[in-house]
Parts: sequence; C-alpha cells; structure tokens
Amino acid sequence: MTSEEKGELTDPGEGTGDDPGTTEAATLDAAAAELFPDEHPIFARKELLQIGHIPEGDRIVGRDEEIQSLANQLIDATQGNSPENVIIYGKTGTGKSLVSKYVTRVTKWKAERDSDVSVGTVYIDCAEDTTEAQTIATIASSLNNAGTEISIPPTGLSTGQYYKRLWSVMDALHDVVIVILDEVDMLDDDDKVVMKLTRAEEAGKVDCDIGLIAISNKIQYVEGLDERVKSSFQETELFFPPYDANQLREIMRNRADAFREDVLTDDVIPLCAAFAAQEHGDARRALDILRNAGKLAYERGEEQVTEVHVRDAQDLAEKERFRELIGEAPTQSKAVVLSLALLTISTEEDTFTTGDIFAVYKFICTQVDMDTLSERRVRDLISEQNFLEILYSEPRSRGRGGGRYNAHRLIDDAGLVKETILEDSRFDQLFSDVSEDELGRVIQSRV
Ligand SMILES: Nc1ncnc2c1ncn2[C@@H]1O[C@H](COP(=O)(O)OP(=O)(O)OP(=O)(O)O)[C@@H](O)[C@H]1O
Ligand SMILES: [Mg+2]
Repeated sequence: MTSEEKGELTDPGEGTGDDPGTTEAATLDAAAAELFPDEHPIFARKELLQIGHIPEGDRIVGRDEEIQSLANQLIDATQGNSPENVIIYGKTGTGKSLVSKYVTRVTKWKAERDSDVSVGTVYIDCAEDTTEAQTIATIASSLNNAGTEISIPPTGLSTGQYYKRLWSVMDALHDVVIVILDEVDMLDDDDKVVMKLTRAEEAGKVDCDIGLIAISNKIQYVEGLDERVKSSFQETELFFPPYDANQLREIMRNRADAFREDVLTDDVIPLCAAFAAQEHGDARRALDILRNAGKLAYERGEEQVTEVHVRDAQDLAEKERFRELIGEAPTQSKAVVLSLALLTISTEEDTFTTGDIFAVYKFICTQVDMDTLSERRVRDLISEQNFLEILYSEPRSRGRGGGRYNAHRLIDDAGLVKETILEDSRFDQLFSDVSEDELGRVIQSRV
C-alpha cells in the first residue's frame, strides 16, 4: 500500500528533484508560523476549563459540607467494611459528579494507605450505558482493569452471566467496591440494578462489600423510587443546593490561571457568575461562558477578555440551549413558537393570548404552504412548549364576568428565538415572498 492509499499527507516537494525533506519542513514551518502563534495569547492552561476536568480538592469551592457528609457515609469503607448507600440529588451543575468522584478517590487512598484495604471505585455514566446488561458489563470490565483471568466481553452474555462475572471480579480483586451510578434516572432498569448491587452481599453472591452512590438531577427521581429501592438507601439522601453568585465567582477565580496573566479584565468573572446565577446557580454554565468568552477573544484577535466577549458567549449559550430545545420539534410547533416571537418583536407587549398567536400562526402556514391546525390543537402545542420551558403561560382574568384566559410569554429573547427557528429551511419562503409589511398588518389587526 502506498502512503497515498493509506490517506497520509504527501510531501508537497516530492518528485520535483529538490530534497523532499527540506522542502516539506520549510513549507510547513512557514505555514505553521502564519497559522499559529508561538504560544496561545489568551489561555495558559485551557484544560482547567474543559468539561470533564476534575479540579484538585482545594479547588472545589463551597461544597465543604457536602464533601464531609459524603465522607461520613463512606467512612466504613476505609476500614474494609460496608459503606452506606447514598442518593445524591440536586440541579444540574451543582457539583454532584465532581464531589462524588473526589470523595471516592480520597476514600480509596485512605483505605489502601492506612488499612491495607483494597477499595475498587467505578464511575458509570448511565446516560451512556442505559441497559441493565450494559451497566453491569461496564462495571465489571472497569473493575477488571487491574487484571484477572475473567473475561468480560462488551456484548454477548446474558444479564445474569454478566452479574456472575461481576461478582467473581469483585471477589478476586477487592475488599470493598464503591459504584457511582451517575444520571441514574437515565437507566432503563435502575430499580433492578440498584436492588441487585445493594443486596448482593446479603444474598450471599459476593464477599466483597458494595457501596452505591446514585446521582440524579431530577428531584422527582427520589420521590418516585420504588419503596424497596428506597429502603436500600436507608434514607441516606444528600441534596446539593445551587451555587449563589459569590460561590460561582469563587469557583471561577480558582481556575483563573487557565488564562494568561492580565488577560481577564475585572468584570469578566463577576458577569459570568451573574449570568449563571440567573439561570439557577449552575457551575458548568459559568465555566462554559468563561471558556467561550476566552475563545471569542482569541478568534477576534483581541488581547484581553472583556465584558463584550462574555455577553456574546452568553448569547451563544442561550442560542445553543434553545436550539437543543426546539431543534427536533415538529415544524408545526416551531410555527407556533415563531408566531409568538414575531408578535413579541413587532409590538410593545410581551404577553399574548392564544388567539393572538393563532392569528399569526395561520398567516405563517399559508405563506409556507403548510397545513393549518385548529385553534384547539394550537392550544395543545402551546402547552407542550410550556412544559418544555420554551414559553411560559399564566392564567389571567378578563375582569368581572369576563372569564379567564392564558397569557403566553417567551422565556428566551425573541430575536434569538426567531433567528434559530428560521434556520429550519421549511420557513425559507416566509420572508422571501412576503413583504414584512403584510406580516405587520396581520400582527396589528389580530383579534
Ligand atoms: N464546587 C466546585 N468547585 C469547582 N468546580 C466546580 C464546583 N462545582 C462544580 N464545578 C465544576 O462545574 C462543572 C459541573 O459540575 P458537576 O459535573 O459536578 O455537576 P453535576 O451536579 O454533576 O451536574 P449534572 O447534574 O448536570 O451532571 C464541572 O466542570 C465541575 O468541575
Ligand atoms: Mg453530573
């Protein structure tokens, strides 16, 4: 096979008679000098801001209580005994995954150093391994990393066989195993997995002590658990509250060395914190905005990260969030939300009745040649969007004897909503054929 067939890049000087090595190096040198600065002008250690980066313990801010509570539940593991099972819940970006990984790491360290107890720790992202068999196979194979004779094929065994091999691996390698089931609500058979892992020892399947940390950002998850499963956790629930703006600032300041010195202007971190606190105190969101602000500054060839970059990064994040929410929605739903956005943009108001939305929706359907649904169906679509947190509906009263109606308001910025929905080519004809005037007339004359 020639290098070309293998898809390798060939030397531009090849076949010209020049020394190919020198020519190539010179060409690439020149290109590299033009494309890349010697060192990144904005970031010094960008990895500190990457998703998935686990900061050292002293960089975990504002979670001392949660860290200590979790450690209290795991203390028996450090002596080679069975730790408590724990459910951790709290909204997204509140440090649940981070704290769990950190505390289990310290537990393992302490057990091995002081008591010669072997603690196996496994982290499972249940959003990836969604079936019972996959979850058990992943737990078994990651524990088995240390190496036993037991083979754990990624697929092909029955669920029961995977359990058997898991028990053998555990007994062969460890005194205690701590399993973190992150995003446990995404698991199809979460009840079964939790029950089997927490009762394995009692049922005489293994000698090894097993501790389970189940994590969910759905508060309802805990309430909805089967009573038998709940009792496995013996009510050991840890709640992670959202961060406030001060804590978010502290979290970011602790990673400010991701940037070169003097690159961050003073208002950048407070502004990122303010945006993320508005949301619900989500640290991931804060770090994302900060990283993206740095990226924007670099792409624009600027030497410092300023408030402007933060605001633009926030807009991009909002757009991304909205795109995820509406992206896969049926065209009809998009038309309904677009109607609300157009109304909001063209008037002084920000809340509208179902009738208002329906009037503009009908106009859009005719323009883009789409079936027009009944007003009742449109009302249903609106309540679905309400559920998805795209818009917000609240009951109003028309005054004495006037009855009640719903007023609808967009959650995100209307301009951004309009722009995102118009990315769907289905709406291409909307503004090409129609003058904006005609749309304006419909909006002004709505009932
Ligand atoms: N107290 C903290 N100190 C430093 N960094 C933090 C802190 N809390 C969260 N982070 C960082 O914020 C991001 C999100 O945290 P984490 O993944 O632990 O949240 P989570 O509660 O598990 O969210 P989700 O429910 O969405 O999984 C990570 O990059 C994490 O490193
Ligand atoms: Mg998490």
